[in-house]
Amino acid sequence: MTEIKATNVTWHHGHVERGQREELLRQKGCTIWLTGLPSSGKSTIGFSLEHLLVERGRLAYVLDGDNIRHGLNKNLGFSAEDRAENIRRIGEVAKLFSDSGVITITSFVSPYRKDRDGVRELHAAAKIPFFEVLIDTPVATCEKRDPKGLYGKARAGQIKGFTGVDDPYEPPLTPEITLKAGELPVEQCVGQLVKALAERGIIAKS
Ligand code: ADX
Repeated sequence: MTEIKATNVTWHHGHVERGQREELLRQKGCTIWLTGLPSSGKSTIGFSLEHLLVERGRLAYVLDGDNIRHGLNKNLGFSAEDRAENIRRIGEVAKLFSDSGVITITSFVSPYRKDRDGVRELHAAAKIPFFEVLIDTPVATCEKRDPKGLYGKARAGQIKGFTGVDDPYEPPLTPEITLKAGELPVEQCVGQLVKALAERGIIAKS
């Protein structure tokens, strides 16, 4: 639980409604939360989706685990506590981005159900559409890919507490979308996400 130290603060309401921003952008803000093992394909799918949407004239932005850990969250490690804070902060950032009208795509391992559920609740309270997307790639496939060589290091004992090797991953029980990214090409995974966005009225049907 985050200790609340910010006291004597008052919410200041803006003069512009989310709906006005959405009208301007001709889309609805939302958060597409990609979760899955390291090397499951989250970043590849996330950045490909962002690319396709922007090419089609939609405003999308990726918040990516490795990238965010270069800046905003560079002071967090990989203990359960630090991962919880990582996800809490990004949940808040994603909520701000989606409230601004942006189609916000997050790609974080986010291994703990409780942390992801917290982000879901945050969006529900703000009435912002939230899609939890399980990037369902078998650990053996992730380990075989291992583009950063981290599974290898974890197996060799050079990284402790690596998700999928000696740290847990709790898959979502009822994700909005499951992508079999070990079997399907990236384009097909992205296609499924675009279809879901159109079906939910986030973007216009093409
Ligand atoms: S999360 O668990 O807190 O959601 P996040 O997505 O930000 O993780 O970062 C995961 C990335 O950090 C991985 O893609 C990998 O490159 C790197 N990494 C370094 N150490 C670990 C570790 N112990 N477990 C998982 N990923 C790690």
